[in-house]
Amino acid sequence: MHRNPITIRRLTLRFPEACDPVIALGRPEESFLYVGLSLLLPHLEPYLIRSMVSAKPLLDGEGLVKDTEAFIGQESQHYKMHIQFNRCLDLQKYKGLQVLEDNLAADYNRYSETAALKFNLAYAEGFEAFTLAMTRWVFQTGLLDHVQPAARDLFRWHLVEEMEHRTVAFDVYQHISGSYVYRLWVGLFAQWHLCQFVLRVTQLMLRTERNDFRKKYGGRWCSFQRVGYLLWLALLYFIPKLLNTHMPWYSPHRIAMPVSAKAIADEYTEKARSGAR
Ligand SMILES: [Fe+2]
Ligand SMILES: [Fe+2]
Repeated sequence: MHRNPITIRRLTLRFPEACDPVIALGRPEESFLYVGLSLLLPHLEPYLIRSMVSAKPLLDGEGLVKDTEAFIGQESQHYKMHIQFNRCLDLQKYKGLQVLEDNLAADYNRYSETAALKFNLAYAEGFEAFTLAMTRWVFQTGLLDHVQPAARDLFRWHLVEEMEHRTVAFDVYQHISGSYVYRLWVGLFAQWHLCQFVLRVTQLMLRTERNDFRKKYGGRWCSFQRVGYLLWLALLYFIPKLLNTHMPWYSPHRIAMPVSAKAIADEYTEKARSGAR
């Protein structure tokens, strides 16, 4: 059974004053997916926190309560840093992003106010299982290596902490409900819900760029030549890991933190300790 200490790191990351949303050089489609993810998190992570705060009084066992508090501590840092990063992104020309965000925020507020705690916790685990599969994919393939340094720093730190707290939402869900079938259906819904937001953001941004695309990035908008490698990597390294999370025997406790991820975690612990930017 794998568990890691969950460290709350209070980092100060520095972002450029005006950041081109094409954060992966020459790869607008991939960049806009990252932007979509970064716009999602300031809405999604506060919702996760509200769900875990509601679950906390129902938990017993000092270990799980402490892990839940650490989970809340890490997620609170994540979405605040994404808000800072999103403010630096030059997104004025992409009309319609705010409507997408407003609809998403309304969904999460409605879930917190009206849905059963069991649903909100299964949603949380659906997201956590998704990010764990994504984190393992990203670290395994070095996907962030070509992302500009400030954004890379943000995503590396965030993803490594997602790996650190990978067991918490699962354990809390198991404690409160434990139904596999319910976790499966709500988890699939959660992953569809968050992916459709990210894909709508990506599509809106690509369509906005459509007329200038050849001049700015070369080739047609949404070029298969450019996204083919990403789809191929996803097919090989992400989809199998994600499918595994939907199996009845899945447990994040069976997934060890790779040595390379531990080294990244240590690097950020040191940065937080020294106040380095
Ligand atoms: Fe997070
Ligand atoms: Fe998380």
